[in-house]
Amino acid sequence: MSRFLLTRTLDEHAAETALRDDVLHGLTTTPKTLPPKWFYDGRGSELFEEITRLPEYYPTRAEREILVARAAEIAAASGARTLVELGSGSSDKTRHLIAAMPALDLYVPVDVSESALAGAARTLQAEHPSLRVHALLADFTKALELPDSPGPRLVLFLGGTIGNLLPAERAAFLRAVRAMLSPGDALLLGTDLVKDEGTLVAAYDDAAGVTAEFNKNVLAVINRELDADFHPDDFAHVAVWDAEQEWIEMRLRARSELSVKIRALDLVVPFEAGEEMRTEVSAKFRQERVAAELAAAGLELSRWWTDAAGRFALSLATAA
Ligand code: SAH
Ligand code: TRP
Repeated sequence: MSRFLLTRTLDEHAAETALRDDVLHGLTTTPKTLPPKWFYDGRGSELFEEITRLPEYYPTRAEREILVARAAEIAAASGARTLVELGSGSSDKTRHLIAAMPALDLYVPVDVSESALAGAARTLQAEHPSLRVHALLADFTKALELPDSPGPRLVLFLGGTIGNLLPAERAAFLRAVRAMLSPGDALLLGTDLVKDEGTLVAAYDDAAGVTAEFNKNVLAVINRELDADFHPDDFAHVAVWDAEQEWIEMRLRARSELSVKIRALDLVVPFEAGEEMRTEVSAKFRQERVAAELAAAGLELSRWWTDAAGRFALSLATAA
């Protein structure tokens, strides 16, 4: 039986130092912010999978529809022997593409969530015993050291996760992806599209409260890792559409005046009643913006596919 490989490039000490820095900086500036990368511990990854099945959360279904309809075209256009997937999570949609790529030799899922990564690698390896699966526990915003891999390579970045990066981070990220590509390689990018405010807000503020729980999970991570005493129920989940930036902004709003002790930082953080901290943005795109941001990073948009309802897009890009 073949076994997948898993390489850890994140050391725990560095991760804890980064979390301390992020929390110290974010909670002592005005307005307060919390860094989104810390959503995805084991529980956070489970909650995200639950989000993908909510009736209001259309992006996963829309992107899956495109992948199913276009898998053969994507496979033919890329001719990939190596598939690298950034922020792969459960890799659940990726199977549609892998099934259409009989010449694929190596699959490299990259994620910061070890539980999601190991589960995905195990499942895909069992489904494709002759495919080599080499999982990387790594931060995709940092320089990646990919295992030796045959070209051409296709880099996947699905789920609209690019929208969770701020514009300057997005530009740096796309330049780093461009630097990973050799001639003949390509990027397949998933972006959620600008649409009516009601649909967007509902996708990030579902009736069952799963997204609220996901948003508050970051408080549980800080409690555990930095010995803090956040009470998640003291905060309300808020999702607002910023029409100027064209992004959904997730916030946590203090329900009353309160203060939180963060023992590992020797810090007491006061909140006013109604005070909000930003936890995440989820940018929504139009085709022109995707093409322009790719071009600014030295990438050329070569194909653009949407679902039938025009909610979500997949872009194929190559080095310009
Ligand atoms: N691609 C999957 C999951 C999207 S959720 C899908 O389309 O459904 C975003 C994923 O990115 C999570 O699995 C999270 O753990 C991962 N992630 C977030 N920030 C990351 C970072 N900086 N480096 C690596 N992975 C990250
Ligand atoms: N990449 C997902 C998105 O922007 C992540 C996500 C879904 C998310 N729901 C969320 C992030 C709620 C924070 C809070 O659609």
